[in-house]
Amino acid sequence: MPLVTFVKQELSIEVPEGANLRDVALENKIDLYAFPDSLLNCRGRGLCGTCRVQVDDHRALSERTITDEKKNGWEGKTYRLACQSQVLDDVSVVTSPRRVRGWMDHSTYATMKKQGA
Ligand code: FES
Repeated sequence: MPLVTFVKQELSIEVPEGANLRDVALENKIDLYAFPDSLLNCRGRGLCGTCRVQVDDHRALSERTITDEKKNGWEGKTYRLACQSQVLDDVSVVTSPRRVRGWMDHSTYATMKKQGA
């Protein structure tokens, strides 16, 4: 079974081959979206582009969909929509790769979030 490593969260998860990357993240309480995208995303239909991630090896995921190509093609092969990607092999994933660091990344908030507060 492929191993998905979420770099920022320091979490590795074994998943069945073909698992949807967005589903894997959400099922394991990985924060894919920056607020307010957590409320306003398209729920995995490939329309909003807010589930963008950066991976270390694009070949570890399924072929890019047309939607993914339109949203991320300009950025390079390692930027993908999590909702449009199936996991085929071991892969490292950086969530919200372009997010500007702010108060949500402060160590106090990060600790509270890990504790489920
Ligand atoms: S959740 Fe909207 S594009 Fe992936």
